[in-house]
Amino acid sequence: MESKRIAGEKALEYVQDGMTLGLGTGSTVYWTIVKLAERVKEGLRVRCVSTSNDTERLAASLGITLIGIDRIDELDLTIDGADEADPALNLIKGGGGALLREKMVASISKRLIIVADETKYVDELGKFPLPVEIVTFGWETTMRQLSKAYPCTPVLRMKDNVPFVTDNGHYIADCRFTAIPGPERIHSELNTIPGVVENGLFVHMADTLIIGRSDGRTEIR
Ligand code: 5RP
Repeated sequence: MESKRIAGEKALEYVQDGMTLGLGTGSTVYWTIVKLAERVKEGLRVRCVSTSNDTERLAASLGITLIGIDRIDELDLTIDGADEADPALNLIKGGGGALLREKMVASISKRLIIVADETKYVDELGKFPLPVEIVTFGWETTMRQLSKAYPCTPVLRMKDNVPFVTDNGHYIADCRFTAIPGPERIHSELNTIPGVVENGLFVHMADTLIIGRSDGRTEIR
């Protein structure tokens, strides 16, 4: 999609020589990674930490230098996508199932830039089902606990007729809410349910949102 490409490529304007970068996951940041690889071929020096096995494979295949997250204390900049972003730049992430690593990488980043097409920008979070990463042991119990804690309907994510398994060996419960009016509270309360590893709410983490518009313009928020 053209609006994803222009948002993804725009993020390169924030990348400087010598930076250590976090590389997100998804079809928008794909364009960031492809453009980054072009710059690397032209001489840009960067080291990158990946947020998923898919991104790692893509970046490595394009000649981008990757390092393990444990080799660094902080990242200069992370560029990632989102499934929804509200005017306060709170996010729902995890549509690609990479939310745990994405949140770990974002949490040690000095700056988090989100790249997204205009359909992702919403007044209030909650139309997109909230991905929650859960351990496989007792997953049905954890899903019941999730729906008791909040008026939401959790559905186990499937792929090719079997449960989708994350890069960390967990399942994803996609939780349908009617709305998420207080993302901060829901974020911390969901994570107290035993069996929940992490949820896809990113509250007060993003610094900049680059929106790609269908008319070919980008908008910065
Ligand atoms: C993966 C994510 C992605 O960033 C999110 O799903 C957006 O993906 P896309 O850019 O393909 O629309 O959170 O876990």
